[in-house]
Amino acid sequence: MADAPIGVFDSGVGGLTVLREIRALLPDETLLYVADSGHVPYGEKSPEYIRERCRLIAAFLLAQGAKALVLACNTATVAGVGELRTLYPQLPIVAMEPAVKPAAAATRSGVVGVLATTGTLKSARFAALLDQFASDVRVVTQPCPGLVELIEAGDLHDPALHALLRGYVEPLLAEGCDTLILGCTHYPFLRPLLERWLDPSISLIDTGAAVARQLQRLLASRELLSAGPRGADRFWCSGEPLAMQRVLPNLWGSAAPVEPLVPGQ
Ligand code: SIN
Repeated sequence: MADAPIGVFDSGVGGLTVLREIRALLPDETLLYVADSGHVPYGEKSPEYIRERCRLIAAFLLAQGAKALVLACNTATVAGVGELRTLYPQLPIVAMEPAVKPAAAATRSGVVGVLATTGTLKSARFAALLDQFASDVRVVTQPCPGLVELIEAGDLHDPALHALLRGYVEPLLAEGCDTLILGCTHYPFLRPLLERWLDPSISLIDTGAAVARQLQRLLASRELLSAGPRGADRFWCSGEPLAMQRVLPNLWGSAAPVEPLVPGQ
């Protein structure tokens, strides 16, 4: 069982920012990745719709032999992780969480900005995080419609993407935020751009590396860490496989075949 692969999924390519942290930390693991790009973005969709996608993709990854699941999507996490944990109580499942706790600890101005989808920001889970960890700081939230779609296109130099991002970040800076939470797994792709634009005193926080560490802890505690050698990583998508294949070298760092997602397979 320890040699079985780890299944990772997202609404699209954003989860690759988490996958690269897992790959770096766990070099002996075989990774399976599903991009639900035929249904992206999740950000403005109903929780019921997203839960159904989560059920279907989780079943697909388990049919491929996954020993653990990673929901590498903040919006899918708030909508679907509870149900998946109920459906698969024995399965190690790791999910995202906007980095409210580290951001509240890091801010010096006392104002934290959160860039995330509408679904994440409206969720009870996000409200609970604010109650638990952010009672001493001011939190300014910024939904970012349109950003995920432009990142999915894979051109991180697109002027339209830059203009949209500036329009979302500038109001947060005007509010005095010195710490920005990248609360959607697509947004860490924009970190190099933000680091070029922003004053170095502004901190950017995402949870990809923390999720990889949590996965490592969980697998170790169940004696499920692979000792290698690993198999080939595999990629599926529910959208157009060639479109994802084209953006993989830029967003994942190497080319790979992308297979069509066929539920029930
Ligand atoms: C989306 O599909 O709208 C974004 C996914 C995320 O929240 O990570």
